[in-house]
Amino acid sequence: MTDGKRMWGGRFRAETDARVQAFTSSWRFDRRLWPYDIAGSIAHARMLAACGIITLQEGETLVAGLERVREELAQGTFPFRQEYEDIHMNIEVRLTELVGPVGGKLHTARSRNDQVATDMHMYIMDECRAIQEGIVVLQGVLLDKAEKELDTVMPGYTHLQRAQPILYSHYLLAYFEMLARDYERFADCYGRANRLPLGAGALAGTTFPIDRQSVAQELGFAEVYRNSIDAVSDRDFVIEFLAAAAITMLHLSRLCEELIIWCSQEFGFLEMDDSFATGSSIMPQKKNPDVAELVRGKTGRVYGSLISLLTTMKGLPLAYHTDMQEDKQCTFDAVDTLRDCLHLVAGMMDTVQVRRERMAAAVEEDFSNATDLADYLVRQGLPFREAHAVVGRLVLDCLAQGKRLGDLSNEEWQAASPLLGEDARQAIDPRQCVAKRCSEGGTSPAMVAQALAVARQSLAKRWPDDKEN
Ligand code: ARG
Repeated sequence: MTDGKRMWGGRFRAETDARVQAFTSSWRFDRRLWPYDIAGSIAHARMLAACGIITLQEGETLVAGLERVREELAQGTFPFRQEYEDIHMNIEVRLTELVGPVGGKLHTARSRNDQVATDMHMYIMDECRAIQEGIVVLQGVLLDKAEKELDTVMPGYTHLQRAQPILYSHYLLAYFEMLARDYERFADCYGRANRLPLGAGALAGTTFPIDRQSVAQELGFAEVYRNSIDAVSDRDFVIEFLAAAAITMLHLSRLCEELIIWCSQEFGFLEMDDSFATGSSIMPQKKNPDVAELVRGKTGRVYGSLISLLTTMKGLPLAYHTDMQEDKQCTFDAVDTLRDCLHLVAGMMDTVQVRRERMAAAVEEDFSNATDLADYLVRQGLPFREAHAVVGRLVLDCLAQGKRLGDLSNEEWQAASPLLGEDARQAIDPRQCVAKRCSEGGTSPAMVAQALAVARQSLAKRWPDDKEN
């Protein structure tokens, strides 16, 4: 069975070098999988008994023992031992200590290869749900804020140059949409992870008459892997999870970058709440957006996790290799990072102060109404390209004179184009510019109010019960 120390010690004459033991050991990090490992083992033991591979009595002893081990793990009294590589072996050894030699029957018709894959599947599925919850909370904050800012006009940017006026609510809803896609990506990931590897054995299946469907049912899996080699070799579901995490972080990093810029004195559109800002150890006047900077910075870490696992899996022959043990730390780190970031960004967005007067002043003093003046000319019958040229020349004149479009006299307007009537003044008022963008998905208050209602509905459908989507 074991040589006293090593579960696989039978065919070995020499002791394992201490450096090898330390190097190959993973329990310090894979212990996080214990709830799944216990649940998987209990389902496996029940199935072994139900299929007559072990006796019913033995099955009961194993399940009772595993429940005691679960209790110890939950209480923090479980004796982890360095000499047993991973969480799976640590649990099995402890089980055998508690129930005697029958503990050695648990691993019948099972390999750590299908065992660890099963644990990872359950872990990833749970984390998909947890992250979806975090996404929904942040979406809720964005919605609440968007509802309050239906009147707040600000410059919209392209190339970080003033482009056209927008509603701040419209901007917030853009992030709502991005997060809605993130939510769906985690739902997709959940769907593909929802497949049980257990029963694949080391790679080829097993000689025992097992019942994989009953294990899948007990553990709540929708189906079982059809191919035993694929079952133990697949880490696509982890990679997909990390890809979804990386994209979500990308979105958070864009939001945070804007917060950082907008909190600068140069923009001053937003002000970080004191509770979400930090100071400088040398410059007494500083209020730094550290949370936003850290989220932006941690995005790199999560990308790193994705690239790390993609690279680990690249070119790996079938089936299991110990390389795959490297799927854990990067995944755990990405999970912790993303969960924290979603939480912190929700708090930050909830508390950040909107400096409406600064936003309003900004749209008054720029040329972001130039498109609207061109659109006005188009409505008077001028082809858009010509209108564009007329307004472009007017902007040039204004720049030379230090004026804005609205500062030009009627005569100057008429000189540029006889089609430019007095009523064009109204058309270039920033609030008008916003109000008139009422095409579907546009920034007009009417469209944004509609979008808000749709967003509210979609969120209510998801939260808190929508576990299917
Ligand atoms: N600790 C291992 C992992 O995380 C468990 C599977 C080990 N299997 C093996 N044949 N060495 O991947």
